Amino acid sequence: MKDEKLAFLGGKKTIDKVFPWPIYDESDIDAIVSVIRNGEWGNPDCGGMVQSFENEFKEFSGTKYALSCVNGSVALRLALIACGVRPGDEVIVPPYTFIATASIVLEANCVPVFADIDPDTYNLDPVAVEKAITPRTKVIIPVHFAGQACQMDAIMSIARKHGIRVIEDACHGHGGEYQGKKLGSIGDAGCFSFQSSKNLTSGEGGMVITSDERMFDLVNSLRNVGRVKGGQWYEHHNLGCNYRMTPIQAALLSRQLKRLPEQTRLRDENGLYLKYLLSGIDGISPLTRGHGETLHTYHIFIFRYDKSFFNNLPKAEFAKMLAAEGVPSFMGYPQPLYRQPLFQQKNFFCYAIPESVDYKKVHCPVAEKACYEEAVWILQQAMLGTRSDMEKFAEAIVKIQAFSHKL
Ligand SMILES: Cc1ncc(COP(=O)(O)O)c(C=O)c1O
Repeated sequence: MKDEKLAFLGGKKTIDKVFPWPIYDESDIDAIVSVIRNGEWGNPDCGGMVQSFENEFKEFSGTKYALSCVNGSVALRLALIACGVRPGDEVIVPPYTFIATASIVLEANCVPVFADIDPDTYNLDPVAVEKAITPRTKVIIPVHFAGQACQMDAIMSIARKHGIRVIEDACHGHGGEYQGKKLGSIGDAGCFSFQSSKNLTSGEGGMVITSDERMFDLVNSLRNVGRVKGGQWYEHHNLGCNYRMTPIQAALLSRQLKRLPEQTRLRDENGLYLKYLLSGIDGISPLTRGHGETLHTYHIFIFRYDKSFFNNLPKAEFAKMLAAEGVPSFMGYPQPLYRQPLFQQKNFFCYAIPESVDYKKVHCPVAEKACYEEAVWILQQAMLGTRSDMEKFAEAIVKIQAFSHKL
């Protein structure tokens, strides 16, 4: 096995299997067909099928309210605006996340402040968060990155001490838990994406969950063109827009939600097994567990790669070889968010950023190491495989390691 030719160089793949996503059957198709047949394609009053999915989701989440919308970015932006932020307010975000976590802050005319991540979890480091707080800090957005819970006890206690609100970015966290509580249900609001790669999907879609009545009223109005409860159709009280989900999306999500608990349990079980297997390979260290998460969604399985154990083979090359072996994997974000042109050049629409804020001077060493040197991602659909698939993933890494020593 050790002398096998790499698939990257024309050899046989270690694993030749399709990991399908999304997963559906006739019941999903029937659910959509029944919406088509009943003719209720729109959602003007935020009721019907959409409301019934929201009820299922809030029940699942253990919150008082669930408000659907068009995508995860809009969910985050509406929750942030509903916190009552003003232009120039600061919002603490991690640099190792999808752009939307930070770009929605700019869209609300606020200033993203990057706090570094914990090297063991790639989630916001509570010590870095506390250091980043200033009198202008209004909101913290912890991201349950890859589906692992942030250290919510520490983050909530810092936030409460300073009178700051917390919006959980749970776009990777559907069905995950922290100390037995569903991700997204711990802060002032939690936001989800139902975009096509996500563990719960209808192609596109989003959700805000909260138990705060004022947050509910505001998000409900903002997503529905500023209308308010009991108001008229052409009566607009707040600066909102039409961000409503469609009944076809809701019907599909309702079917998909039924599968989520079993899928999450399987990903968590496979994740623990793969972590055990990879921990035995020199130069490979999976992110750690045991930080309060009681159910990890493994939207991404992340391991840290140390090239010194692979004859200095660069991470990007290693990641390409791993994908060629048939492991659904990827090298992850190429750079921390503050290195994106949007922040470096403060382009169009960034007028709320004061002159004094220069993202060229931001330096988060842990996030930089994750992007440039260390992080490799295995995608969620692969985590729905069998134990033997997990063994093959480990075998593929060992095969590349053996190859690297012959370079
Ligand atoms: C962490 C995170 N936050 C927010 C979003 C935005 O979600 P959407 O693509 O549904 O707008 C994503 C989507 O990839 C994400 O990964």
